[in-house]
Amino acid sequence: MQTSSYFDEMLKQALHIKTRAYAPYSHFHVGACFRSEDNTLYSGCNIENASYGLTLCAEAVALGKLVSAGKKRIVEGIVLGSGEAFCPPCGRCRQLIREFSEDDACIHFVKGSGKSITIKTLTISELLPFSFGAPQLPAIGKNL
Ligand code: THU
Repeated sequence: MQTSSYFDEMLKQALHIKTRAYAPYSHFHVGACFRSEDNTLYSGCNIENASYGLTLCAEAVALGKLVSAGKKRIVEGIVLGSGEAFCPPCGRCRQLIREFSEDDACIHFVKGSGKSITIKTLTISELLPFSFGAPQLPAIGKNL
């Protein structure tokens, strides 16, 4: 699967916003960047809390920025974490992304740094197959 011409800018923004992560408990910093249908980029970092369960994932923060800017569709995204491994989204974030994506929305994962990065790309339907969404709620779905 291909990356788009927006990939480099998304990577730059995800790397930058990862430096803003507030993660004093896990020390695991995450950056995410999503591209909306009009090719605007929205990025977010994880925001932890002393009440651990209140933690906001980077994807949720980026998605909140996209939706509160009036956008409804993620067409491409990137997620990266600390360390040398890929940072696949947690289950909750997969469902959050799925709400605002077509099945073929591409999410890229990046590990490594500089010139030696490795990219893995999956669609949201690969990340969250046979998922629950508006079509399962016809009375609500038809109004979206
Ligand atoms: N985290 C994210 O930001 N996104 C994910 O999809 C997985 C986990 C954050 C939450 C927490 O601040 C840290 O990573 C460790 O779980």
